[in-house]
Amino acid sequence: MCGIVGIIGHEDAAPLIVEALKRLEYRGYDSAGVATLHDGQIDRRRAPGKLRNLSAVLAREPLPGIIGIGHTRWATHGAATENNAHPHASDRVAVVHNGIIENFRELREELTAKGHVFLTETDTEVTVHLVTDNLRAGMDPVAAAQAAVKRFEGAFALVIMFRGDEDLLIGARRGSPLAVGHGDGEMYFGSDAFALAPFTNRVTYLEEGDLAVLRRSGATIYDSADRIVTRPVAITQAGAALVDKGNHRHFMAKEIYEQPEVLGHTLVAYVNAVNESIALPGPAIDWKSVSRLTMVACGTSSIATNIAQYWFEQLARLPSGTDIASEFRYRDAVLTKGGLSLFVSQSGETADTLAALKHARAEGQIIASVVNVAESSMARESDAVFPTHAGPEIGVASTKAFTCQLGVLASLAIAAGRDRGALSREAEARLTRRLLEVPRLIGEALKQEAVIAAIAQEIAKARDVLFMGRGLAYPVAMEGALKLKEISYIHAEGYAAGELKHGPIALIDENVPVVVIAPHDALFEKTVSNMQEVMARGGKVVLISDRKGHELAGDKVWMRIEVPQCDPVFAPLVCAVPVQLLAYYTALAKGTDVDQPRNLAKSVTVE
Ligand code: G6P
Repeated sequence: MCGIVGIIGHEDAAPLIVEALKRLEYRGYDSAGVATLHDGQIDRRRAPGKLRNLSAVLAREPLPGIIGIGHTRWATHGAATENNAHPHASDRVAVVHNGIIENFRELREELTAKGHVFLTETDTEVTVHLVTDNLRAGMDPVAAAQAAVKRFEGAFALVIMFRGDEDLLIGARRGSPLAVGHGDGEMYFGSDAFALAPFTNRVTYLEEGDLAVLRRSGATIYDSADRIVTRPVAITQAGAALVDKGNHRHFMAKEIYEQPEVLGHTLVAYVNAVNESIALPGPAIDWKSVSRLTMVACGTSSIATNIAQYWFEQLARLPSGTDIASEFRYRDAVLTKGGLSLFVSQSGETADTLAALKHARAEGQIIASVVNVAESSMARESDAVFPTHAGPEIGVASTKAFTCQLGVLASLAIAAGRDRGALSREAEARLTRRLLEVPRLIGEALKQEAVIAAIAQEIAKARDVLFMGRGLAYPVAMEGALKLKEISYIHAEGYAAGELKHGPIALIDENVPVVVIAPHDALFEKTVSNMQEVMARGGKVVLISDRKGHELAGDKVWMRIEVPQCDPVFAPLVCAVPVQLLAYYTALAKGTDVDQPRNLAKSVTVE
């Protein structure tokens, strides 16, 4: 999703901006641009495609200037062309924007009637003309920005640079993230602390409705009522995080292989290994008095909530439901008194999930979140925050964040079960012991890499692939299909094994591989029956199971992936690994862009 950078410094800003934009590449984008002031005048360079295209333009036509703004654009309104790329500019201002100005048509008509000429198909261009209009009407830059921002509906983070003032950038946010970086006599804007890490670790996260005026001497921040406010300066850890790929070809591979370690780090924060009990961090949740649990998320995080629903129901006997955030926020769901709403998000910034959180708060729910970015908007707006300690996840397709979310959600479900009297002390101890074994078992599962890489050569030839499973393996099937679609562009569906005969079985022939996820658990026999139905119709089955499961599955299976035996409760964490690797190696076989798949964004900050 769009990334924003702004710098007021002492040396040429353009190369620094490109460096910071590279750190935002993981968010996903399809064009990029930079604008600076030199001799007081606005100049810009923009290019469709990857940042290397912008770098090539800058190499041919350098952009001097010690103040500048930059942007990676994920197209919403208008194609990913040079003309639609940010920064957008008039003779007076240049603007970069993340989000959607929903009332842009109305503003565009109004400004066109006043003589403004629009040159792009973007919603963003209205910001340029509105601020310019305010300046022409005699307002100073701060007043012009404040007045403009009040007219915008929708979600935005934006940074404005003004002709003739090499010591001024104005940024504002509502709905989309924006941070201020504090340097020594230099100041910065960035979509996140990660972008600013090469320059500073002193960061102020702007709050909803804030507008920040940056000069070399510091920042003045106004709230939505234009009152000057003080926001804390946090010392962030973002700079410490390694952002290289280690020995791996892709961030995604590195992140898959990091799972034993980062899941271990995460569990340490939730488990008392000596007592074999769960010890949740942060403010205590009174699980006994929770009337209902509503979990809301998007994408892979939403699949984590699907798995967690089984856990909360089975282990804690807690009435639970899950919702996709984009549906939940407009569905007018009935939320019970005393209900707990739990939001799960790697970034903590996904626009729909954040809006759903605000909706649940307005409905009087207790708000908890499971996030990987401790300083994110969701974390800041929650009553209780349960962090995952996955470290920065750069690959667009989520892997290690997912298994860490599962580790946290399993811990929460066990704690809830204990506190609600659904789990005995021995049951808690047994489950805790088994949960602590999972990082090692994931390490075992990773050893299947070579087998999976060979199977992927075959999967890469398919046009459609089905994934199926029952119980806890059903969401894993959905995750397998999602991963494959995301990075290899092969059409895939994840189905509940029992539901296959109500439709998708019509698709089965020898050209449609079916990946069956069936650890040897209470539902194994039933899944095997569904697998037989597939094979009886010529379907080619790739079976993911443990040794016992493979022994019992018969010899008609096309190809096999063995996962280590584990407690069925935690099998989703272990079975996630082969579906991630299968997607990864299939994408390699197809030669697609694994870390930045087309059209996708890491952090979806527009609805
Ligand atoms: C995007 C990413 C997915 C991610 C989803 C939710 O679609 O490509 O990998 O699962 O957003 O993101 P979140 O940060 O809220 O977990």
